[in-house]
Amino acid sequence: MKRLLLGLAAFALVLALPLPAFAGGGRQPDDLRELSHKLRMYIGSAVDVTALAEEADYRQVLNREFTHITAENAMKWESVEPQRGVYTWEGADAIVRNAQRNRQKVRGHTLVWHNQLPTWLTEGVADGSIDAKELRRILRDHIMTEAGRYRGKIRAWDVVNEVVDDEGNMRESIWLTHLGPGYIADAFRWAHQADPHAKLYINDYNLEWNTAKIDTTLAIVKDLKAKRVPIHGIGFQGHLGIQYDYPADFPAVMSRFTDLGLEAAITEADVRMVMPATPEKLATQADYYQRMLATCAANDRCVEFTVWGYTDRHSWVPGWFDGEGAANIMDENLAPKPAYNALLSVRRT
Ligand code: XIL
Repeated sequence: MKRLLLGLAAFALVLALPLPAFAGGGRQPDDLRELSHKLRMYIGSAVDVTALAEEADYRQVLNREFTHITAENAMKWESVEPQRGVYTWEGADAIVRNAQRNRQKVRGHTLVWHNQLPTWLTEGVADGSIDAKELRRILRDHIMTEAGRYRGKIRAWDVVNEVVDDEGNMRESIWLTHLGPGYIADAFRWAHQADPHAKLYINDYNLEWNTAKIDTTLAIVKDLKAKRVPIHGIGFQGHLGIQYDYPADFPAVMSRFTDLGLEAAITEADVRMVMPATPEKLATQADYYQRMLATCAANDRCVEFTVWGYTDRHSWVPGWFDGEGAANIMDENLAPKPAYNALLSVRRT
């Protein structure tokens, strides 16, 4: 009888206790927004501006699940200034407005890149009607105008994107060719002037594992810091594919950058596969996603994990990688895939 009473008392005590803390191995969060709070980290998605405007279910899930967003294309130069001096901010404005209404921070993407430049600019440089001096002025105006327009509304800017190539050389681009390598420092200084509170990032792909690219990028960061150029963050795009080994050194690579005092973000995570998808492939994909998020969660300076679109309904992968797809954490119907549930299981270590 005594044993039974003791047992009942213990049972009652367990019932009376609050749910065990998540960090101690308790209940899994219900969604990514809850996970974001538990991990004390932003969890973001790229936003397709057309889907945001036209698809209520897409908008609803985006706003429910994420605490950070990035415009997939709407802030790129060709989107905001398709003709010289003619600005089209509607898409970018709509994305920022939607984020503010839904308590989401915004990553600005991107101020200086070699892709998705307006043709008036690339053609003007190619035919010589825009010389180096004018090009530098145009770049400055672009940065001041765009970063200035969203001053105070952008948590972090990808100031320069993909400026190192896969061999570890400074990427050949109109910027390097006509302005020389100093364009990078200039871009950071201008962005800081335009929006003094935004965290300013250098962002790249394959930076999770490509040692040539890693070494050159580290050298660039050290050089900028030595010159007191305002650089605050390192962005790892995180475009992976399950046909390649998982980049197991990623945590150590991230630390090499954060040890320099930078904050870090995984800015464009997706995990593609050769189609068709199978349960085995989706399980491997889930593992890759989980390891990427865990890498961020294990580094005190990693503050944001953003996926490059959250649904297979809208993904850049099939259009860019022949025969590949299914790279996102929800399917075309916005149903969670194994990868979504794998993310929910990540804890801070
Ligand atoms: C991609 C977009 O997802 C596509 O819609 C667009 O056609 C091309 O650009 N690295 C980046 C992103 O920094 O801006 C790219 O986004 C994907 C690779």
